[in-house]
Amino acid sequence: MNIEFTRHRRLRNSDSMRSILRETHLRAEDFIYPIFAVEGENKKNEVPSMPGVFHLSLDLLNAEIEEIVSLGIKSIILFGVPEEKDDVGTQAYHDNGIVQRATRQVKEAFPELVVVADTCLCQYTDHGHCGIVENGKILNDPTLDLLARTAVSQAKAGADIIAPSNMMDGFVAAIRYGLDEAGFEHIPIMSYAVKYASAFYGPFRDAAHSTPQFGDRKTYQMDPANRDEALREAQSDIEEGADFLIVKPALAYLDIIRDVKNNFNAPVVAYNVSGEYSMIKAAAQNGWVDEKAMVMEMLIGMKRAGVDLVITYFAKDVARWLKEDQQ
Ligand code: PBG
Repeated sequence: MNIEFTRHRRLRNSDSMRSILRETHLRAEDFIYPIFAVEGENKKNEVPSMPGVFHLSLDLLNAEIEEIVSLGIKSIILFGVPEEKDDVGTQAYHDNGIVQRATRQVKEAFPELVVVADTCLCQYTDHGHCGIVENGKILNDPTLDLLARTAVSQAKAGADIIAPSNMMDGFVAAIRYGLDEAGFEHIPIMSYAVKYASAFYGPFRDAAHSTPQFGDRKTYQMDPANRDEALREAQSDIEEGADFLIVKPALAYLDIIRDVKNNFNAPVVAYNVSGEYSMIKAAAQNGWVDEKAMVMEMLIGMKRAGVDLVITYFAKDVARWLKEDQQ
């Protein structure tokens, strides 16, 4: 047969050939592991919709971090599940709030670990919204001051990075101003710049007890149908002083990750959210999918799409698999 074509398969002939030609790699350092800290003692409660993810009381936290560090993971993101909630989220910016105490404790025991503090109000408000509520409306500007206070109290507790996730307009500017005024000009902001109103957050809201008690988050989180808007969100956060840009969720938004990577010269972070975790775990528990292969493929896809870091509940599993593969 006299036809012309290209032999792509020449470059896939063996394991070694594939290995030397691999364009993207996963490393334990690529991952930020989410931790949920709760009040009380001796608590290690598994989140029912997230097998392998626990609410941990502070007395059990260090043992968990020990394991994380031994796997080569360099960073965690801390979420607080407070006992008390009120309409203005007081526990979010209290110097003895759960996240502030957890941060102090972890930084004291593991000074090298990069601790990211999630800066939001929804876990701390009784109505479950990310801002101050008046007559059923979520108020933008009055919320900014509370976010800045939260960020400053987290920085005071020793947080290395502030990660505001509440999607009020101006939150990066307000937090940057607050941090600078308080002498924390050296603390970076990892902004949840592009955050969609997503059904994939369902299991997290079980975990953090942060389901809105009325309405939804669609007046502040983005419409999943929008792409141009993602660039406008990222643009204003960069102008306001964001050091990192988060895209959230990740799996259904790989195009957005690539857009953000191509348009902004800042580290891009994907949040591989709870629903993305739970659906693989559930399918794996049923024996329907190969969990390791699927997780590795999903995460390499995110890196290929352009992320520098991934916040993922799979961080420990992946770090362990990477170690095993090396042996
Ligand atoms: C809100 C917040 C959310 C997540 C982290 N912080 C979602 C939300 O309820 O809007 C979701 C994370 C996940 O699903 O894993 N501050």
